[in-house]
Amino acid sequence: MNTDDFRRLGHQLIDWIADYRRDAAAGAYPVMARVAPGEVRSRLPSVPPAEPEPLEEALADLTRVILPACTHWQDPRFFAYFPSNSALAAVLGDLASTGLAQLGLNWQAAPALTELEELTTDWLRQMMGLSGAWSGVIQDTASTSTLVALLCARERATDYGAETGGLQAAPKPLIVYASSQSHSSVDKAALLAGFGRDNLRVVAVDERYGMRPEALREAIVADRERGLLPCAVVATVGSTATTAVDPVADIAQIARNHGLWLHVDAAMAGSAMILPECRPLWQGIEQADSLVVNPHKWLGASFDCSTYYVRDPRHLVRVMSTSPSYLRTAADAEVKNLRDWGIPLGRRFRALKLWFLIREQGVSGLQARLRRDLSHARWLAGQVDEASGWKRLAPAHLQTVCVRHEPRGLEGDALDTHTLAWVRRINESGKAYLTPAMLDGRWMVRVSLGVETTEREHVEALWVQMQEAVRA
Ligand SMILES: Cc1ncc(COP(=O)(O)O)c(C=O)c1O
Repeated sequence: MNTDDFRRLGHQLIDWIADYRRDAAAGAYPVMARVAPGEVRSRLPSVPPAEPEPLEEALADLTRVILPACTHWQDPRFFAYFPSNSALAAVLGDLASTGLAQLGLNWQAAPALTELEELTTDWLRQMMGLSGAWSGVIQDTASTSTLVALLCARERATDYGAETGGLQAAPKPLIVYASSQSHSSVDKAALLAGFGRDNLRVVAVDERYGMRPEALREAIVADRERGLLPCAVVATVGSTATTAVDPVADIAQIARNHGLWLHVDAAMAGSAMILPECRPLWQGIEQADSLVVNPHKWLGASFDCSTYYVRDPRHLVRVMSTSPSYLRTAADAEVKNLRDWGIPLGRRFRALKLWFLIREQGVSGLQARLRRDLSHARWLAGQVDEASGWKRLAPAHLQTVCVRHEPRGLEGDALDTHTLAWVRRINESGKAYLTPAMLDGRWMVRVSLGVETTEREHVEALWVQMQEAVRA
């Protein structure tokens, strides 16, 4: 393809995306994809084209095959999982990133990529009210950020054991602590970092689903008495099921007293910290060793853009660095080589989408949108609290409201069947999308607000729909 063809097709594609976003915002599609497993593949050739095809044909297939099999995360009636906003400014930033085709192997290979990543993560740090003691880098996902954190914790506890015998030579098993509400990525990171399932402690939570500091302290002391080595604790600010908040200040104190690494998973809720009024939720954050916040969720920086902050970048670099001769440059002493700040060597120019987003919205624009979403959640929580037969199951700290419809006389498995049935009715209607989750062994429904296009009228319509769905 020459650049003239690229220009022509690129204009077509931008028009296509603009039309798609306009129509999705107007609710033109069923929110949850209506396809059966295998349907997409069955509509496309199973072998690659032997000869070149006009790209127009692939663009036509976007409308014919791909679009009908999409779940519409940017639809204002999307209340499932969590908001994964992809603001149009960020879409343009991502396009610029691919167009520039930078590969950040080291500073010299991509100076703008490196320095814009330093700048934008520092802008976000300031926006979240964090002190200048934090240094940031962009990872692909929170799962990777948490894996990096646990690798750093492991290396600190073993005095850089990876440089000698690794965990196989560690004199005592190392233990990781997280609450029962922590994200599955914490378990996965602990397993991949070599701790082993037997050495992952699930700490009890209180009635608001936050970690009980006393239970953490007791678990650490018990492990020490058994000759084990407590290594790291992962605190969650904004859990996936209910946006529960672990008491970071208390946990930090315990971690400090016992020499544990403290990693804070604020993947979802971190965006809220651009609002000063939300910051009490992570009081004590300055005492943590590492922190992950996903601007690719509520904030709108388009997947994938996970910011990882550390207080001791030298330790991170020592754990992650490799320095083969072909990557060394004369600038190394003066610059950051971000390959040493995470797992992959190659790095996309992800900072562009965050930079475009922040510039186009301004801090005040982003704050106004998040405050709007918080007010939607408060409104819905109030409706649920007042409605007979409905129960709110957890504090609505942020943008998620956890509910169950509990008709008199219905409990146990029958209540679960009722819950799953009314959610299915809503999802199959195509008029909204909600995801149920287990809480205390029973199904409940999470209403996760915060899609960029969701206005109060959409939340009101959902509440009407929920009340109708339970009566059907
Ligand atoms: C609290 C929390 N942590 C981690 C994750 C994982 O995020 P990612 O997909 O970026 O790995 C999620 C996503 O649902 C989350 O809600």
